[in-house]
Amino acid sequence: MIREEFDITAWHGPFEFETRARAQIALEHGHLLYFPKMPFQLSNSETEFLDGGLTDGKAKNISLDHTSGKLQGTSATGERAQRLAAMMERFGAGATRLVKDLLPNYSKVERARTSYRPVEVEGRVYSVISDDRLLHVDAFPSRPMRNGKRILRFFANVASLSPDGGGSRQWEVGEPFADFAAKFAPRVKPHFPGKSWAYDKLGVTRGKRSAYDEMMLSLHDAAKRDTNYQKTAPHTPLEFPPGSCWLVYTDQVLHAALKGEFALEQTFHFDVAQMGEPDTAPIRVLEKITGKGLA
Ligand SMILES: [Fe+2]
Repeated sequence: MIREEFDITAWHGPFEFETRARAQIALEHGHLLYFPKMPFQLSNSETEFLDGGLTDGKAKNISLDHTSGKLQGTSATGERAQRLAAMMERFGAGATRLVKDLLPNYSKVERARTSYRPVEVEGRVYSVISDDRLLHVDAFPSRPMRNGKRILRFFANVASLSPDGGGSRQWEVGEPFADFAAKFAPRVKPHFPGKSWAYDKLGVTRGKRSAYDEMMLSLHDAAKRDTNYQKTAPHTPLEFPPGSCWLVYTDQVLHAALKGEFALEQTFHFDVAQMGEPDTAPIRVLEKITGKGLA
């Protein structure tokens, strides 16, 4: 099953050895970990944040940098913004504790940004490249992963169950990364190191993009632009009801978010060297296909 279910109800360990091993193996083999019984609870006063008008209208998501406490992309101000940041911080800290307890081999995991996605995905207008309703792997244009650092993301659907049973977040996931990469990697233009240098100097990127970063961005764009691939590639629908959470390597699992509002998300990064099976990491798969070192 692409979705590996866990009956966990607490956001912290201790977890049994078998549970921890099952979690790590499933993730590294491109499965999603699914937690249907571990809701992220909003307090009564926080239910006011179930409001699509909470973004500033420009950004898709509201983001929190936990190191500075800086909140971006929201129309909320003053005390309301502080309470929103506190809710996101509670979620991010909880997700971090869970990941560390469930995946102790990833103990050096770095907590990156926390995001809140209050706007309904369905029916919005996007450019092709920013349309996450199309199958893609995640790659960040301004935040290079350099030596193949992983992108691991934890999501919670905090929508309330609507009377008609709605409120689910609907995803589709695609074929295994190696199959996808074998089709698209040969089409990607060679990496031009001068461009990475210039982008870094101009402040377009935070640090220099590696050949791996360029390739992942090209794969992200190529998949979204290929209408035939989007139509004919394998799609597995997945539904995440209100109150459920899930964890997935979004740099490895082809995914599309089709419908849903009110999701919280915490991003993590860590080095490939911490993985039990580093050969499953996108950088290793791509190096095998291209026969070149990419970092
Ligand atoms: Fe994505």
